[in-house]
Amino acid sequence: MSTEKNPQEICKECHEKTRIGYQYNDGFFGPKLRSINHLEVGRSKIISSPITITLEFLYLVYEKVRDFFVRIWHSLFPRRPKIWGEHKNTRIVGTLRYAHRNELDVPIHHLKIEFWARTWWLQWRKLSEAYSDYEGNFVLPFDLRTARSWKIKKVQAEVYQFTHTYYDGGLLKLHEERFKVLPIRKKDLIGMSYNLRTVRLFLWEYRTDTMVPRVVIKDHDKDAPQKYSQGRKDALIAQILPIELTKIKHLEQIKLAPETISLQDIQNDYPESLTVCIEKKLPGYTRSDEWFGLRMMNGMNRGYFEPDPTEPGMYWIKYFGVCNYPHNNEYALPTAEIKFRIKENGLPTPVEIHLTGPLNAIDKNPWQKHLFTPESGDKWLYAKRIARVNGGFSTEVDEHFCGTHLNTEQYAIAAYRNLRLNPLSELLLPHLKEVVLINHSADKMLLQEYIPSATALTYEGLQLRNKDVMGVLDWNGWKPMRVLSEAHTLARAENLFWNVVTEYVDWFFAEKEDGIKKYWKEIYRMSEDLVNNAVPVFLSDVNLDSLSPEEKHLAQNRLTYYCGQYGFEKNKNRQVRNGELKAVSPLTLSEEYNETDWNGLKQACSYMIMMATFMHTWINEHQYDDMGEVLYNCGGLRFSEKPEGVLQPESELSIAPDLTRSTQMLFFTNFLSRTEYGFITRNEEHDINPEFKKRLEVHRKAFSDLGVNIDNIESRTNI
Ligand SMILES: [Fe+2]
Repeated sequence: MSTEKNPQEICKECHEKTRIGYQYNDGFFGPKLRSINHLEVGRSKIISSPITITLEFLYLVYEKVRDFFVRIWHSLFPRRPKIWGEHKNTRIVGTLRYAHRNELDVPIHHLKIEFWARTWWLQWRKLSEAYSDYEGNFVLPFDLRTARSWKIKKVQAEVYQFTHTYYDGGLLKLHEERFKVLPIRKKDLIGMSYNLRTVRLFLWEYRTDTMVPRVVIKDHDKDAPQKYSQGRKDALIAQILPIELTKIKHLEQIKLAPETISLQDIQNDYPESLTVCIEKKLPGYTRSDEWFGLRMMNGMNRGYFEPDPTEPGMYWIKYFGVCNYPHNNEYALPTAEIKFRIKENGLPTPVEIHLTGPLNAIDKNPWQKHLFTPESGDKWLYAKRIARVNGGFSTEVDEHFCGTHLNTEQYAIAAYRNLRLNPLSELLLPHLKEVVLINHSADKMLLQEYIPSATALTYEGLQLRNKDVMGVLDWNGWKPMRVLSEAHTLARAENLFWNVVTEYVDWFFAEKEDGIKKYWKEIYRMSEDLVNNAVPVFLSDVNLDSLSPEEKHLAQNRLTYYCGQYGFEKNKNRQVRNGELKAVSPLTLSEEYNETDWNGLKQACSYMIMMATFMHTWINEHQYDDMGEVLYNCGGLRFSEKPEGVLQPESELSIAPDLTRSTQMLFFTNFLSRTEYGFITRNEEHDINPEFKKRLEVHRKAFSDLGVNIDNIESRTNI
């Protein structure tokens, strides 16, 4: 027993003990997972039969041999940069446009087009290259005699997509991949000009079936605008398997012999979480007021403390429940408003919990109110659990998925559609890549399958809530969280990281000023895509006078709280497009460089980087600390059939998640926290500007003193 140790020492020990590490025995006959795209809420496509594994191995050998010969082939027939032909007396012309029916007139600018010839002995000869202009037009001047020479077997134009930048020996490199081949009959090359007419491309298209801006992904493996890097795929596969196998074992056991497995068995099978570890050494501590306040302030939730308007020194954290969203009747999700007092040590302690909404399956009045205080006896403990569970739900759905994943996707789509020659591509794209891919997976696994079955909201309810939360997300005027005390380490780390990001962005803008100004129109177009596709400001499309007094109060309460929580300044001068007041402010409204937009653009870039890196990492990596024990925290408590409903102790398992939901929840918190890949300081793919890393390294010790290891801060949101 560690009775002589104080809680701080025990928590520190448990933090160390449960810190995420990766151990995987990749034996030949160990089970394999085909890829990240094959993960499922139920049973993922694991390959476990020795015969299948052997066949898989042989296939991998075949792939390696094939790749070897492909490399040889390419080295025999290289594509050299030299342009053949001296007299550029003929040209190929054409126009690049989007293929989506809503964008048939929208030009695609600054894509590279190359004109290639192949000889009868299979050598490649480049005849011309050019970029499309802002109208999508391109002109490829070439030497007609060279193209029509008897040595040439075939000719073709090729469109290249700019995919990413990286640093090689300190030099910036651009990577472009062939996107479309346009065959041309050699005999048609006559006269002064050959017209390819309008070339339509399915490129980073917006979905038209969603309430928030999302990209079209037809097939994750074959037809997506982006692919995961190999390193990202390898990291996931290596780390996920033990967790996946544990989940599969549980699901089989629940199906075949449910009497042989308990919730405790399920908990014990997953790696020990922070709260499980602390409970073993200090029983009851993780259910105490002290721990509750500490985690609300510096844990996964990074709670926003709204000052009480009448009592100085008192604050509120508000987790809004089902509100008016479509929901089921199995799980409770009342609105939880928690009043805190800041203690002398700078940490908060809860003094009141107000719950609004049903707490049992009998009384369905959505406006019923219940007040609990530390004097409420056991009910205080139950109320804290209900508030904690709502906090877990709100943090995952609102802060994590909307605030970082969906928020970053809207910037990613607009950036990838428009930033090509502008140096902002170098600054932003490393932080915006892969988010659309993980969001696509989240749609099915989380939004459609797991969350509606494990929480109160339906899929439709989740979509509506996502749209509302997106309606308070904007770069314009955003600031990191206000520091309440020395003990508010999350806010201190957030502010420190924001300072690093803004200073790095200032430096970058000074270094690349000419290029940013020269290709300003790319920024203008990115801005137009961003604003036109943004959701409306929360409540801007609702007539508050048509609501009941309770609904109106709830709506205004949410808007006020969200403005503080998400740093949203509702009085900014925003754009109205298609009759909607758009939540995201424009980066610029000018097609040419405009001095007045310079500082705002820097702030917008800093915001994008901040959301995709620190803000996502914080929640993602702390999921296992705060949602790694089913009875401590989960997505939703069940009403049960008893009149006490969710006001019952943890020992009452009829209100806890059932066995299936329990293993799925622990699978998810493990999966999401343990399979991170792509970090700023590790810079696995050499795409992060070394200056960013250098500036972060200067503060390594300061971050460490605040409990943040800078090596664990992701460079992008991809899990
Ligand atoms: Fe995430």
